[in-house]
Amino acid sequence: MGMAAAAGFAADLTGNWLASQPLNDGTSRRTYLNLRQEGSRISGTIRTSQFYYKITESTGGPDHFTLTGTEEDGKTTRHVLYEGKMVGDELRLTTRRRPDAPLVEMVAHRAPAGEGAMPARLALPSLHKVPYNGLAKTPPMGWNSWNKFASRVDDAGVRQTADAIASNGMKDAGYVYVNIDDTWQGERDAQGNIHANKKFPDMKALADYVHSKGLKIGIYSSPGPNTCAGYEGSYGHEVQDARTYAEWGIDYLKYDWCGARNIYKAEDMQAVYQKMGDALRATGRPILYSLCQYGLDDVWTWGPQVSGNLWRTTGDIRDSWASMSKIGFSQSDLAQWAGPGHWNDPDMLEVGNGGMTDTEYRTHMSLWSMLAAPLLAGNDLSHVTPDIMQILLNRDVIAIDQDPAGHQAKCAWKSGDQEIWVRPLAKGDYAVALFNRATDSAKVTAKWAGLGLKGTPKHARDLWSHQNVKMDGPEYSADVPGHGVVMLRVGR
Ligand code: GLA
Repeated sequence: MGMAAAAGFAADLTGNWLASQPLNDGTSRRTYLNLRQEGSRISGTIRTSQFYYKITESTGGPDHFTLTGTEEDGKTTRHVLYEGKMVGDELRLTTRRRPDAPLVEMVAHRAPAGEGAMPARLALPSLHKVPYNGLAKTPPMGWNSWNKFASRVDDAGVRQTADAIASNGMKDAGYVYVNIDDTWQGERDAQGNIHANKKFPDMKALADYVHSKGLKIGIYSSPGPNTCAGYEGSYGHEVQDARTYAEWGIDYLKYDWCGARNIYKAEDMQAVYQKMGDALRATGRPILYSLCQYGLDDVWTWGPQVSGNLWRTTGDIRDSWASMSKIGFSQSDLAQWAGPGHWNDPDMLEVGNGGMTDTEYRTHMSLWSMLAAPLLAGNDLSHVTPDIMQILLNRDVIAIDQDPAGHQAKCAWKSGDQEIWVRPLAKGDYAVALFNRATDSAKVTAKWAGLGLKGTPKHARDLWSHQNVKMDGPEYSADVPGHGVVMLRVGR
């Protein structure tokens, strides 16, 4: 009996376990398994930075067990599967981040009770209007590291990108923000100040460098304890982080909900974003404020209230025609919410990343410009083909995006896979884009009377061929290549 009890105790999985996996940027990814074993049933929670799973199924015991963790955030359900055994006083575990991801092995040791628990919801300020910061009178233009580099962004890469933008014509065309996305963060010090990880030895020096090129620099954080990639977020340090960014000389913050979803409720969102809006304002430095919460909670109705200069309207873009076109062509109903200082953000550009044809990338650039979307290039600017450069540098198309009136285009006509979008411009011109979403080329006819224009166009310019187009009747037809566009600027 004594023996059995002792053996039973030694082999009990109950407890708080920590597996810490070092990453090559000097940070580590921590997984906490808070387990309770009752006979043949194991319950509890698993937390890997921003992911917080409830154990919903288990098999086995200390000699060999499996755990299924489930996370539900109202919209999506995620599962994670762990398999493991207890050896001495450690857990040897294997897991997959996604069903199709490679197997990860890890070893967990006992951790103090309570360590790694998901922190509590913070009290939030009552709602008020955060004054407009005066920025983004036209949609922001620049570059962001995520689409191409994800966790591979580093100091050298950001400097190279700034060099490229300053010398390849992009700066002159209006691309000014060089934005570092997720994975720059290191640990906090004893005073709670955030430091960058090994990839960014000196943020202030980097900001100085980017500024010396006549450009501006952006950074990324989350209202949660962790970001989407599992790095340190601004939870409980909002004011302090805003001050740090201002001290470094940061000009742009993308603030990503991801890691906050297990802490706050959807209805807390406005107050959560207001808190950072106030914190940025209190620094006295103009910092452009980009809200990233994928269009939840009708963000366009309250984004300007928290001094948001742009807000994502959808989930993440991918470098494919399917993803880009699904996002881009779904934005018509949001047109009324865009305007100088505050823009809808259908996510960053994939132009030049290789997953679409040049025709498709021209459509991407045209559609985003019709939508008055931010133009944040997301490709490797040290290797750009001349054709891709021409797409990014098309001044006629950029002028549509940057039109000072700030009206967003709407879909004015649609028949099957063909759509005509119209954007009213300052001084009475219009941008008119004839899109063909089918794979085969198609003739698309703009019948002016049905498109909501004031009057019939007398002159027009094709913004990709850079030719004047003859306008002499009630309609205009063009052969539009599959997945392509004919984009015009028309006037009276
Ligand atoms: C989310 C955002 C992306 C990117 C990643 C970084 O998915 O929507 O744009 O910032 O997080 O982890």
